[in-house]
Amino acid sequence: MIKQAIIPLAGLGTRLLPLTSVFAKELLPMNGKPGVEYILDECIEAGINEVIFIISNKKKIIKKYFYNDKRVIDEYKKIKKYKKMIKFVYQNKPLGTGDAVYKTKNKIKDNFFLMLLPDDLIIKKNCSKAMISIHKKKKCSVMASMKVQKKTVNRWGIYMKDKNIDKNNFFIKDVIEKPNIKTAPSNNAVIGRYILPKKIFGILKKQKKGKGGEIHITDAIRTLIKQNNKFIGHSFEGKYLDCGTMHGYIKSSLEIAKS
Ligand code: UTP
Repeated sequence: MIKQAIIPLAGLGTRLLPLTSVFAKELLPMNGKPGVEYILDECIEAGINEVIFIISNKKKIIKKYFYNDKRVIDEYKKIKKYKKMIKFVYQNKPLGTGDAVYKTKNKIKDNFFLMLLPDDLIIKKNCSKAMISIHKKKKCSVMASMKVQKKTVNRWGIYMKDKNIDKNNFFIKDVIEKPNIKTAPSNNAVIGRYILPKKIFGILKKQKKGKGGEIHITDAIRTLIKQNNKFIGHSFEGKYLDCGTMHGYIKSSLEIAKS
């Protein structure tokens, strides 16, 4: 059973500067509720009972938010429930997503765990829940997938597909970060929901810096695939909202308010 989730929150948020020089983008309200609470609700509904936040000293405001008791009573009850299930680990130097994940190595108890990237909101249908159910059947790693326009593949991580399992799921042969439009192996892009094996920590321990001098989680995933660990791509049914840029944040807020 997958009971633990990790949420990397220690990035710099450069696309939302100057706001992110004084504030955590994950606390920006969407229809009155901080973005990260949508992610927590997705976890709770998917049966997760412990969430590990990877923050940094610069993003302590996130911890403060959950530990601030000066609230009206209903709001307080809700936050108390979240607070009970959240643990914090620190990544004070943003060396990349792989390094952020590595910081949780002593906290993960089971063979698999869920990871959610908070910039990627998926509404209307719980993507984590659907992925956990596939994992239960196939006992392997699962990553979220979404078809993107062919002309935009160079902005995404793109799957090289192996055989289809059914209409929403396929085995992954490889993942290529931001491929050339001409040579991209598909237009199925990686979205920020992952069910990863605990053994990824052994790979991350030795992982060298990749593109842009960062330690990428995708590089560790590629190593696992090469070592014949099964990975499934799940084409989710919910609606994807990108909250990593100001334009995306505004669009997503309007979309959530409508739904
Ligand atoms: P991104 O690479 O999208 O970076 O990280 P970012 O900092 O959020 O935003 P930009 O690109 O600079 O505008 C994907 C996720 O991984 C986390 C981020 O907080 C984000 O949730 N992350 C990234 C870390 O926790 N640590 C890192 O070293 C890098």
